[in-house]
Amino acid sequence: MFNVGEEIKLEISGLSSNGSGVGRVNGFVVFVENALTGETVKARITKICRNHAEATTQEIISESPHRIKRSCKAQNCGGCVLMCLKYEKQLEHKLCVVNDALKRIGSLETQAEEIIGMEVPFRYRNKARFHANDGKIGFFAHNSHEVTDISDCIITHEMNKTVIKEAKKIENLPQEILFRVGFNTGEILTNPQILGKTDFIYEKLSDVNFRVSADSFFQVNTVQAEQLYKTALEFAAPDNETVVDAYCGTGSIGLYFSKKASPKKIIGIEINEKAVRDAKINAALNQVQNASFINGYSENIFKEIAKEASVVVVDPPRSGCGKKLLKSLIDNKKNVRRLVYVSCDPATFARDAKILSEGGFYLQRIKAFDMFPQTAEVETAAIFI
Ligand SMILES: C[S@@+](CC[C@H](N)C(=O)[O-])C[C@H]1O[C@@H](n2cnc3c(N)ncnc32)[C@H](O)[C@@H]1O
Repeated sequence: MFNVGEEIKLEISGLSSNGSGVGRVNGFVVFVENALTGETVKARITKICRNHAEATTQEIISESPHRIKRSCKAQNCGGCVLMCLKYEKQLEHKLCVVNDALKRIGSLETQAEEIIGMEVPFRYRNKARFHANDGKIGFFAHNSHEVTDISDCIITHEMNKTVIKEAKKIENLPQEILFRVGFNTGEILTNPQILGKTDFIYEKLSDVNFRVSADSFFQVNTVQAEQLYKTALEFAAPDNETVVDAYCGTGSIGLYFSKKASPKKIIGIEINEKAVRDAKINAALNQVQNASFINGYSENIFKEIAKEASVVVVDPPRSGCGKKLLKSLIDNKKNVRRLVYVSCDPATFARDAKILSEGGFYLQRIKAFDMFPQTAEVETAAIFI
């Protein structure tokens, strides 16, 4: 039909979940980078697979009215694929991605009721991992290990500019530079040491304090994390009940619940030993006495404490919940009154939601959150009863 390197003219009929334009040539799907719904583009084929091809836009022949000029100077840094789309349209698209996954992958009727976007959808990241090579500092270009040199990342806190500037003065930098900033405390961490501290910083969400180590998981968007946790709490509504916070990271969800509501007990489960240590310190920091944290796999630990669990929160990585954990949740459906599932991947969420629904849970409500404006990522919080 066509070959790699060939240029073709395409009409774009939709956007994929990873933000590429979707076009068709005689029914064969082509995913086109930097192309928006309704546009006609000239695109160069970069890859041909069995069921689809991939291409990059060479020329926009007819432009979408929703296209805007990218406000970032960095070209090809591999991120922010939706920056050329008006923000309200980004939100519409992400809500569709969630609802489409629920229907298509989950075979579920429930749809996300809304998407919570940001008032200012820039400068929201409290963390960045820059690559350094040959005096260049930035991110890997799309599909490559070539470092795109930048002086600023406009989705990251202002201080990233100073970190990059100072890092460029240092000889023999390691290949990776970690930058973290507490939005509500002003504390800075860099690794290696460029500015601020190297080991941990403090951050605050509402009136809850967190110590965050260099390598522990902490929500990257501080402003939206609070929106997400508020909804998780509204869904979980722990009333003198034991809450299991599986995949708990530094204990943030459970501790937020403890400070804002009255759970009987919080039991966190987390595989990263350092995050568990931070979670314990965070409990003390917030004078929370009813929280304990177990270092281990949620899949293994949950079944041992399942009998106590009236409310369960799961917030797994992109791959979703382990099969063994889903099975234990289903086996313990009698005592698990409410299950809150926080997810950063609509496809794996929908897959797990289907398994949970077939096992007797009912997906009652789901909301989407724009934790990463300008990118194709979307987060959800859902309640199963
Ligand atoms: C998406 S983060 C959620 C962290 C936390 N709930 C928060 O909001 O900050 C997922 C966490 O799960 C942990 N993790 C990954 N696989 C796990 C497993 N099988 N059992 C327990 N924890 C796991 C990771 O180390 C990470 O801290």
